[in-house]
Amino acid sequence: MYEFIVFIHVLSAILSIGPFFVLFPLLNRMHDKSGEVLHSQIEVFQASIRIVKHAGHVLVVSGVLLMWQGNWPWSTSWVVMTIVVMISSIVFLAKAFKPKIRQFQAGVIDSSTLIKRLNSSVWQYILLLLIMLWFMVVKPNLW
Ligand code: HEM
Repeated sequence: MYEFIVFIHVLSAILSIGPFFVLFPLLNRMHDKSGEVLHSQIEVFQASIRIVKHAGHVLVVSGVLLMWQGNWPWSTSWVVMTIVVMISSIVFLAKAFKPKIRQFQAGVIDSSTLIKRLNSSVWQYILLLLIMLWFMVVKPNLW
């Protein structure tokens, strides 16, 4: 059972990070587009964010199950560090994408500003996920 939960946990980690790499070529292609084409590309972007969000929920639930089933103490340093980074990235993810797309749809920012901002948000988010992945795989004993 424990191995199965680890499998689900790793699978959801893949689905939390993977879709972001598809977003770079998509953002590149958005540069010279407008109207219907740009609109459908933004929809693909939003769908990817949704997958990441759902996978993130499975990641947390399976992580909690692993703590319980594996008798890991909650004071384990690499778990605490992952949770700290995760809480900050949840706050970040809430502000990173949706409000920017809304601003564009409301005409507050133009498409090139939108693409630039989404691009930097995607990079920051990947960085946060890679930090968490490092803590999970290396399991450093910090205290
Ligand atoms: C609430 C948050 C989380 C908790 C409580 C949690 C808990 C755990 C635990 C207890 C293990 C150890 C399994 C074992 O080796 O027996 C583990 C493994 C793993 N976790 Fe998490 N996790 C969390 C979030 C994450 C996140 C955000 C990621 C990826 C970005 C992640 C990726 C992994 C991976 C890849 C492994 C397998 C590492 C290995 O076995 O060497 N976890 N997790």
